[in-house]
Amino acid sequence: MLLPALHTFLAFLSLFGPTMKAASVPSNQELTAMMLVDYLEFFHHLRVCLLVSEEPEQLWVRQAVVRVARASHAFLTVLRLNEANSTRHHHGEGRRHLPCERDLLLAHLTSRSDVHLFGQVFASHAPDASWLLLVPAPQVTRRLANLYLPLHNRVTVAAYSPDVTSTSVSLLQCYHVSEGDTLRLQWFGAWHYDRTDIRNAFHDPWRKTRVEENLDAPVLSRRVVYGVLESLEGDPVLRRNNLHGIHLRCSTISSPPRTILKPAKDGAVDVTGILGRAYEHMMQVANFTSTCFATKDGQWGGLRKDGTWTGMIGDIVSGRDGHCSGLVGHHAGTKQSS
Ligand SMILES: *[C@@H]1O[C@H](CO)[C@@H](O)[C@H](O)[C@H]1NC(C)=O
Ligand SMILES: *[C@@H]1O[C@H](CO)[C@@H](O)[C@H](O)[C@H]1NC(C)=O
Repeated sequence: MLLPALHTFLAFLSLFGPTMKAASVPSNQELTAMMLVDYLEFFHHLRVCLLVSEEPEQLWVRQAVVRVARASHAFLTVLRLNEANSTRHHHGEGRRHLPCERDLLLAHLTSRSDVHLFGQVFASHAPDASWLLLVPAPQVTRRLANLYLPLHNRVTVAAYSPDVTSTSVSLLQCYHVSEGDTLRLQWFGAWHYDRTDIRNAFHDPWRKTRVEENLDAPVLSRRVVYGVLESLEGDPVLRRNNLHGIHLRCSTISSPPRTILKPAKDGAVDVTGILGRAYEHMMQVANFTSTCFATKDGQWGGLRKDGTWTGMIGDIVSGRDGHCSGLVGHHAGTKQSS
């Protein structure tokens, strides 16, 4: 009579033993599916569209669908990536419309062709749509570097370790300051199935980016359904304030005391005055440089009937030859009929 009770007790004890623990570590596929559920719950995503490739990790998709249905509040639609890319869903103005209502798009990038297809779907939709990408950690940089993820994108990368003993997933923000620029990665958070994994060295390279980028936002941490999710508080897009020395062209107009122009080298102007000073301050805060030119036609800038611009805006819009261009009018809001 004592025997069953003893068994239960021993089984209970062995839950804490190292051998039992090693044997019960869930597979990568189970872990990433559990992380997904916790991510959806943590960030309150309710309508999710999962894009799968032709050669999907079928097992993972099944895991994800079952767990999301069972343990989250989200409604999940599964759609083939090439279906998402198909012209059947064209929606005017070059933008496409997916046949699923969603507040989060989700893809598991396991192969080069997945990344390629994701790139096409990403480029044909609003660049600030929310995405969660699951990517094996060693492949993050290589896989995403050739895409263009603009500064205001809302792509979060869940980087999981292929090492079967790791039960954590790193959450990263990734973006390019301009097309062709280096891929920037920022630590955004992490998910831990097992709390003892929190100090796992696997996250160190990502965590370092937080120090380098001076991300001092508070970290929110909460136990969700399967594990603990921690994440920097606040909008990640607003933390991308280091433009890494990008050079912006600037067009300006003399308007003392706000902008006072002095001729400089090669036809450029040095700008002082109230707005000139403010602009200089912006360059320091956001780490960019700039060369200013006085507007060619001496006008502030207005929209012509034929859709072209005059004045400062026209100079910036038409001057596509520079390495990089930014619209930095020193005065905005002047209406002009022309
Ligand atoms: C995705 O769509 C683009 C644009 O229509 C097309 O060029 C490309 O071949 C498509 N890719 C696939 C794999 O269908
Ligand atoms: C500004 O950008 C340059 C070029 O990438 C970089 O070397 C420098 O460290 C950046 N400055 C700050 C304060 O981050």
